[in-house]
Amino acid sequence: MSPERRSSFLAEHVDRLSRSSLRELLKDIPRGERLRQRLGPILLDLSRQQLDGAALDALGTHLEASDWQASRNAMFAGAPINTSEQRAVLHTALRAGESRLPSPAPRAVLAEIEQTLQRIEALVQAIGHGDATAFGIAHGITDVVNIGIGGSDLGPRLAVRALAPFHVAGLRSHFLTNVDGQAAHDLMAQLDPRRTLVIMVSKTFTTQETLLNGQVLRDWISRAYDGNAREVSRHFLAVSANVPAAESWGVPAAQVYPMWDFVGGRFSLWSAVGLSLAIAVGMEHFRTLLAGAARMDDHFRSAPWQENLPVLLSLVELWNRNAFGRGSRAVVPYADLLTDLTSYLQQLEMESLGKQVTPQGQPAGQSTSAVVWGSVGTNAQHAYFQALHQGTDVVPLEFIGVVQPAHELRGNHDALLSNLLAQAAALALGKTFDEALAEAKEGDEAARRVLAAQRTFPGDRPSTVILLDALTPESLGALIALYEHKVFMLGHLWGINAFDQWGVELGKSIARQILPALESDSASASAFDSATQALIEAIHQRRKQSD
Ligand code: F6P
Repeated sequence: MSPERRSSFLAEHVDRLSRSSLRELLKDIPRGERLRQRLGPILLDLSRQQLDGAALDALGTHLEASDWQASRNAMFAGAPINTSEQRAVLHTALRAGESRLPSPAPRAVLAEIEQTLQRIEALVQAIGHGDATAFGIAHGITDVVNIGIGGSDLGPRLAVRALAPFHVAGLRSHFLTNVDGQAAHDLMAQLDPRRTLVIMVSKTFTTQETLLNGQVLRDWISRAYDGNAREVSRHFLAVSANVPAAESWGVPAAQVYPMWDFVGGRFSLWSAVGLSLAIAVGMEHFRTLLAGAARMDDHFRSAPWQENLPVLLSLVELWNRNAFGRGSRAVVPYADLLTDLTSYLQQLEMESLGKQVTPQGQPAGQSTSAVVWGSVGTNAQHAYFQALHQGTDVVPLEFIGVVQPAHELRGNHDALLSNLLAQAAALALGKTFDEALAEAKEGDEAARRVLAAQRTFPGDRPSTVILLDALTPESLGALIALYEHKVFMLGHLWGINAFDQWGVELGKSIARQILPALESDSASASAFDSATQALIEAIHQRRKQSD
């Protein structure tokens, strides 16, 4: 938010709250109750944000004046809200079959989605029963490799790992993403080409990394069958909105599963992009994941903003980003199974909200996406939490915890949760100089004061806690949908298009121009800037020396 806008409606609240402390705010019990909201298995606790009732009301007034319900309804109904690509945004339709509220999405869209889900179901059941030859798939598959990147990787990768306790026996899942050949090399070293099923996932089916890795695995499988193309094709499935491209790449039509222009890559887990997940956990769990997301959809569509989890989460982000100018947010799941949540959210939030102009081409006039970063706790505590507690910059945090683990090691789990709760408390409450001085016993008064200064914690470092009852298909679906709708709300509030991603194109096209200059040292590099030319030259020189 620009300083002008901040002064217009939040300034007095920022001034007041900058002078108050979380120690004081946390004494206000009704405030805490208002800032803790539950939907089914998810408890959202915003009480450690530097917010009071008056500031929240001001945010709510701003929200209500924005006609957010009309905007939300337009998305659910399939209006072309992704205006730069003239596309509808209908990832919610992918789980509408599990919804209690009737879907306003076009009937033809809903029918096509259900038809595809049934195709997926039949395939997944056949693979689960150990014989999908009727679907064109080779017999005896033991390993499934998802080849994709960005939205064609991060969602299924997150969910496959998060739901490991729900995996069906006998099948292993792998994800091949980066164009770095080391990844493909290592995977081929561990797998048997005759027992490997490759799922090529690419909305556009033009993505360099995916096509290159697919070709590498196809050559590897082909060698195992002495180049018999028919046999090789029995090891490939594809998921794409560009079905003709997938077919002409070599995947038989019957083995291509559609996705659609109205589903953005980073919102696509619920479509056939989730095929590797459906294979890993079985169709029943996959549908339960959809049901969890649908429950969040229904809540988002019907709850008043004061109780609406995605809306509240977006208001808090706006508060931290625009009222306090916080440039980043750390996402720290206290669950190894949620290791991939942070990178998933990086794409979801930063690719969606990292924009500086409105759909009309005007400057956004306020700061947009924060940098999202983080990693699992408690590991994170032993890496960068020092800076979060005592560094000069305030970084809001998001802690994600799980009440009931999927294992029986209760002692570990209590230790894990106690750390989560302790970090949130320590960041908020801090430790004053006087408290630190009272604890410092060594040395004379001067030495004790020096020591106390080092041991003072400023506190007032805001955090959100999200507690899942357990990590299940249902709670995971609801959690991801919570973030999807938060992103939608921020796009709305910031007046930007959250559903395109033009910012990734420039680097891709420059890479295409540079590639020939790396492939051959006789190709001219003179069209590039001096730094690029020098690095290309250095690469060629070092290659010659090591040849
Ligand atoms: O690089 C950006 C991007 O276009 C993402 O938006 C997308 O999720 C990813 O690349 C992969 O694209 P595709 O599914 O078309 O291969």
